[in-house]
Amino acid sequence: MCGIVGYTGPREAYPVILKGLKRLEYRGYDSAGVALLNNGLKVYKKKGKVADLEESLIGQDVHANIGIGHTRWATHGEPNDRNAHPHLSASGRLAMIHNGIIENYALIKKELLSKGYTFKSDTDTEVLLNFIDEIQHHNECSLEEAVRVALKRVVGAYCILLIDKEDPHTIIAARKGSPLVIGIGKGEHFLASDATPIIEYTKEVVYVNDYELAIVRPDELILKNLGNEKITPYVTKLDMDLAAIEKGGYEHFMLKEIFEQPKTIYDCLRGRLDVANGTITMAGVENYMEQLKNAPRIIIIACGTSWHAGLVAEYVIEDLCRIPVEVEYASEFRYRNPVVNKGDVIIAISQSGETADTLVAIEKAKEQGAIIFGVVNAVGSSIARASHAGAYTHSGPEIGVASTKAFTGQLAVLNMIALKIAKAKGTISDERYKNLLGELEAVPEKVETILENAAAVKAIAEKYKDSSDALFLGRGYNFPVALEGALKLKEISYIHAEGYPAAEMKHGPIALVTEILPVVFVATKDSYHEKVVSNMQEIKARKGRVISIITEGDTISPTLSDDIFAVPPADEVIAPMLSVIPLQLLSYYVGTAKGYNVDMPRNLAKSVTVE
Ligand code: F6R
Repeated sequence: MCGIVGYTGPREAYPVILKGLKRLEYRGYDSAGVALLNNGLKVYKKKGKVADLEESLIGQDVHANIGIGHTRWATHGEPNDRNAHPHLSASGRLAMIHNGIIENYALIKKELLSKGYTFKSDTDTEVLLNFIDEIQHHNECSLEEAVRVALKRVVGAYCILLIDKEDPHTIIAARKGSPLVIGIGKGEHFLASDATPIIEYTKEVVYVNDYELAIVRPDELILKNLGNEKITPYVTKLDMDLAAIEKGGYEHFMLKEIFEQPKTIYDCLRGRLDVANGTITMAGVENYMEQLKNAPRIIIIACGTSWHAGLVAEYVIEDLCRIPVEVEYASEFRYRNPVVNKGDVIIAISQSGETADTLVAIEKAKEQGAIIFGVVNAVGSSIARASHAGAYTHSGPEIGVASTKAFTGQLAVLNMIALKIAKAKGTISDERYKNLLGELEAVPEKVETILENAAAVKAIAEKYKDSSDALFLGRGYNFPVALEGALKLKEISYIHAEGYPAAEMKHGPIALVTEILPVVFVATKDSYHEKVVSNMQEIKARKGRVISIITEGDTISPTLSDDIFAVPPADEVIAPMLSVIPLQLLSYYVGTAKGYNVDMPRNLAKSVTVE
């Protein structure tokens, strides 16, 4: 949430920052702003998208070789020009951008008000900035020292970038809880919330850790801890290319990412799955196999779509490995007093690897001695680094705010983990193991077939786009898919949607069924199929409008459905990787038919780095 960019070096800073902000806009689009340093400190900021800022700056003097920029997802203070970042200190000397939340800002603000400070915005950021300003003034110390002192008092999460009118080459940056990557160029440095604004300039980056402070000049990067001790920057090479973060001819990132799935799933399986030899190679799992195999319990922690992937994994792991699994919302787990016993393994699932709730839940479980296994997409992200072991999903950068390809990547990884454990534990027959390996290998091709029929989903979307509500129902492995279908529809098309286990309808929600309510059944052939068909009948008897995702060759469901979409046959363990695709497409086509910007749904942002 919130994207930050900084540049210092010989180039024009503004175009670098502007382009970077466009790449980071998925992290928030309530307002955007830049601060540029050239014969004085100029701050330009505006409510709305980065494009609005860009338009407002046409004809302005934006020449500078150092600057910082921000795209905001509002926390404190409504989205308007006043609350947009960067903020200027009361002295007019410092400009700062911030991603995160300062929890004790009210207390600090009270102190500053008593000292005569006034505030132009409602933000916690301006409070922190003036706090730094006050410390520098009072202690007569360097900015670096003032930042260090201030951050020791701060409770909350932050990634901050500051520039000082009196020091025209230096950016001071610090992080705790919110991500920061520094790109190292020749005589120049780039700073950003993730690597996407950096990759076209350099592939050499340093991921800054919590409680680290960076002093960044064109030809110098100094990293320190908050105790003022120097730390040697650990330089890593980015494994990402520019094409991966561009739309590549698609109208939206979301559509591109849905259509990328045959490749992203293939990339996830590649080098791991060997059907001919009946093996799965995953070093992270192998190194921790004893702990995984003997775990008395596996606890999965995640949020949103990743949580849904965790729910599917619960069914798979319990079924194949016979290990009890609990799936927890990270945001609940972190504030409960959860029982984590010796030997319990935590699987943390996250696309971005930066979700604050998941990160804190990991730390909490670690304190109780749990082993953390991360299933993460973003390489080098905070969750990947906080885990003892893990497996990347290799889905590539996911830029559309709605998570799509990450979900199928997570399922691919989780299925492979379950299969490896089951094989090592001996809880799966050789025949089923081999069969499931083959089924996994076939997924990319089957997804391709589904995508070839995307027009059929588009037609369904046109028909139902004006509905005000929708229900998504499934049983067993397809129940989490129903939840995911409902989440996708509500976030992209703003239609109220709920996912339910199909059998639960009779315990209350069936009262909602009317002649106009679309009820989407995720009804691929599995061990519960006959039961789902009965549930379909119950809806039809009440004149509900049934849309069914079925398996090719199913002749019964179509007789009970107003609309159907068929996916290729698959084992029930694998089926969610297929049945979710038409639901992703459905939400995309409904959202676009209604004229919404599906890559930037209202009120949302990707990478939720605040709690
Ligand atoms: C939904 C969506 C969110 C994320 C959730 C977790 O489309 O994108 O629900 O799944 O915020 O994010 P990660 O997986 O990055 O931890």
